[in-house]
Parts: sequence; C-alpha cells; structure tokens
Amino acid sequence: MASSDQTRLLLVEDVPQVAQYIRGLLNSQSTVKLLDVLSDGSKVLAQVQQLRPDVVLVDALLQGRIKGLVLAEQLAASGLGVPVIVLTVPQNPVVIDVAKGIHGVLAMPFSGFDLMNRIVQVRKDFATISTTGSSRIYSVFAPKGGVGKTTIAFNLAVALGQADQRTVLIDGSLQFGDLRSLLKVPVDAPSILDLPTDRVAESDLQDVLWRDPSGIDILLAPPRVEMAEMVTARDLDKILSLLRRVYGSIVIDMSSALNDINLSFLDLSDTIVEIVTYDSTTIHNTIAVADAFRMIGYPASKVRYLVNRADSPGGIEPVDLERAIGRVPEHRVVSDGLLVVQSNNEGVPFVLANPSAAISQDLHRVAAELLAASGIIRPAAAGRR
Ligand SMILES: Nc1ncnc2c1ncn2[C@@H]1O[C@H](COP(=O)(O)OP(=O)(O)OP(=O)(O)O)[C@@H](O)[C@H]1O
Ligand SMILES: [Mg+2]
Repeated sequence: MASSDQTRLLLVEDVPQVAQYIRGLLNSQSTVKLLDVLSDGSKVLAQVQQLRPDVVLVDALLQGRIKGLVLAEQLAASGLGVPVIVLTVPQNPVVIDVAKGIHGVLAMPFSGFDLMNRIVQVRKDFATISTTGSSRIYSVFAPKGGVGKTTIAFNLAVALGQADQRTVLIDGSLQFGDLRSLLKVPVDAPSILDLPTDRVAESDLQDVLWRDPSGIDILLAPPRVEMAEMVTARDLDKILSLLRRVYGSIVIDMSSALNDINLSFLDLSDTIVEIVTYDSTTIHNTIAVADAFRMIGYPASKVRYLVNRADSPGGIEPVDLERAIGRVPEHRVVSDGLLVVQSNNEGVPFVLANPSAAISQDLHRVAAELLAASGIIRPAAAGRR
C-alpha cells in the first residue's frame, strides 16, 4: 500500500457543524477522500464492511445508542482491520490505545494540515502493525495417512492461540472431516459449505465457525463424504483471504492426497508443515512429494518438516531420514501413546490437558519456532508485541 494512494475516510459525526467543518477542510485536496458521514453509531460496522474505508474518524462525544469510544472498541473487535482516529475536545482527553481500537486522537480545534497529517500517519502506522502481525497460513500435510496430521494440527492451533495469535483451524480433510469426529461436533453444526461463495463477508464467519472450548475457532468440513465435492478451489481462495483478514494464524488439517483441493490449500499456504515419521513408506512418499513441489515451483523454504514420534526410530536411523529429505528436519514431536489417545478420545488438545508433558512442550516449541520463522516473534519471545 503506497502512502501516495488516496486514503478513503469514513466520518462518524452527529454534530452537523463539525461534519461540515471537516468536509470543508477535505474539499480542497485529493489525498483523502471522504466516503460518507454517518451520524448513527449503530450503522457504522455495516457501512465499514461495505465501503471499506482505510481510516474511520469517530467523534468521542457521539450521542445515541452507541457512543464514540464503544464504537472504536467494536470496530477493533470486529476484525474488520481498519484504524480509528478519535475526535475529541481538550476537556475530554482521550489517549491512544490500540487494544481499545484507538489508533490516533485529534483534539479540536485542528487545522486542515493537522487533520491530513493525522489521517495519513495513522494509516501508515496501522499498515506497519498489520504487516508485522500479518496473517500466516500453515497447512499440516503428509503424503501418507495416519501419521498424526489431525493430532498435530489441532494441538498446534491451540498452542498458537496460547502464543497470543488469534487462530482458526480449518478441517481440510473435506471428505471425512477428521476434526468433526475428533471434537464430536453435532452433525448439524455449520461447515465450510455454509459460507456463501458469491460474496463472503466477515460477518458470515461468526455464524459458521465452531467455537471450540479449547479457545480456537474451527471451520468444519462438510458433514457428509459426498458433500466434499461441493467445495471448489475458487471457494478456498476467497475463504482463506477472508480468514487472513481476521486471524493471525490459520492452521489447515489436510488429507494425504495431492488433488486439486489440496493443491489449492498448499498454494495458498505460507508454510507447509510436512509430517514425516520413521517409516519407509512415509519417507518414500515424502521424497516423491518433494519432487512434485519442486516441479510446481515451491521454494524449499516453503516446507518445514516435522518428525512425529521422533523418539521412536523403529529401525530407520535419523540420519537416513535426513539424507532422504536432504536436510535436518525443522521440528520434532515425541511419541506419547497414552496421552494422545486419551486426549483424542475425549476431543481435548493434550497441550491443555497436560501442558507439562514432553509432547505438549514440543508442540509449544513448534508453535514458537513457526512464529519465529515467519518473523512474527523473536525466537525467545512467545508473546505478541
Ligand atoms: N506423537 C504421537 N504419539 C502417539 N500417538 C500419536 C502421535 N501422533 C499421532 N498419534 C496417533 O496416531 C494416530 C493417527 O493420528 P491422526 O489421526 O492425527 O493422523 P492423520 O495423519 O490425521 O490421519 P489421516 O491420514 O487418517 O487423516 C492416532 O491414533 C493418534 O492417536
Ligand atoms: Mg487426519
């Protein structure tokens, strides 16, 4: 987003004289375009969704059902990704508080120069925050069934959530809906098919996501095998770009096939977390897939290998695995038959059920390593700025 672009502004102001004053200041220039002036706070979310302003200017003293500062908080919570400048008077000081949706403050009286400067600056600052905290898609994939994709994806998503990332988990095993069965969700729980495909909006997400007790949101697979075909690669593109606007981390639990849908998931991912185990078929398939990825043109750095059950080599030496995949795997998760089976049977993540277990610590480390590799956190810091 070049700062030379015109900034689209939405003004929320119920005092006609103030609205008129701001209109006047903006009339004589073309850097900021005033999209509309709204006087009713309750209409703002819908309008932001429709008009897609770059910045919203809200009067702190807005009267009516929704007051100015409440509106700022609502905008922040909505995940619409728009910064707010609060307009106030010196007698009613307001401080910048990004957590409360206040990205800038402008106290009256102000000049046209003050107004423009503040708008342009807030937009620029917000773009910086958005890219450093920008969304990452991690697809958990393996070219072999039963190696732990669903188990790892679920626990990794919860661990990312605990690392302060707003996280959504997608049940990308569209035919069998592995997470549906793991979490024992009712058959009538909404799924990816309930998202409208023509024009998906952020408000639609609220009705479609499964809010898991573990604290993450889950986009479930269709409830029946044959319904998987109703999801197209084009839908995925739209759905993922929508989720990117709302979530910091998006984890996809995939099935093993290399079909159209899975290739779309992989294309759209920033990182493929590819699970390998010390098992000759898995290793054979992993090499075949590495070739396929190379042909597609994926950079080697797009894939990060995760050795699952890393403490049970079963006849194959770690060095053989390294030779086969051509590098030292980036991540390791130990085996813990009892805890994994028990947690999976209860539909709870082991990272919550037994946080001190070695396998849980491994998952937290994988989460931190992924965030560090994406430049979202420094290796030592697990929290977000
Ligand atoms: N680190 C581990 N320690 C012990 N058991 C594990 C571990 N990881 C996975 N398992 C077990 O392996 C089995 C397969 O796991 P999971 O269903 O997660 O694999 P998957 O790759 O998603 O399978 P599918 O290909 O069917 O989707 C499960 O019974 C699970 O409990
Ligand atoms: Mg699975």
